[in-house]
Amino acid sequence: MVQASDQAAAKMENSLSEEFTAEQLDAVDKIIRRNRGRPGALIPVLKDVQDVTGFLPLPLQKRIAEGLRLSLSEVYGVVTFYSFFRQEPIGRHLIKVCLGTACYVRGNKDLVQNLSRDLDCRIGGTTRDRRFSIEGVRCLGCCGIAPVITVGDDVHREVRAKELPAILEQYK
Ligand code: FES
Repeated sequence: MVQASDQAAAKMENSLSEEFTAEQLDAVDKIIRRNRGRPGALIPVLKDVQDVTGFLPLPLQKRIAEGLRLSLSEVYGVVTFYSFFRQEPIGRHLIKVCLGTACYVRGNKDLVQNLSRDLDCRIGGTTRDRRFSIEGVRCLGCCGIAPVITVGDDVHREVRAKELPAILEQYK
């Protein structure tokens, strides 16, 4: 009889093969094998794996934990401690919306709300179609042209909430 934990493990394994290609998973396994038993290997392994897969969902953390003979909570603890590691996929276009004081004073509140609402995506998340990821930042370093958002390398200055649809339309 299949145990509940076996079912959960099978489900995790399936979700990995749906999310990643066989080549990606082979590369992940090679990284794990190369580093098995090496002290202090976890962070470099997570970094190398993320370079291959783009993000580190829980099933992948489990695979890494088993491969390195660590506990899942140890791996999860490191992934969640360092902001460099992502548990969600990144969208094709990264929107950075400034949450800093200058942008706030110059009216970014509607901008932030509309962005989340129009894309149906929270700040810090990725849209379901993976077209956009949204990141909130403290200051984009160009307060003179606040409120500011960037999309990839493009800087959009003095953005009003009503201008958002036309801006987003430029990015497919
Ligand atoms: S506070 Fe927004 S760019 Fe500095």
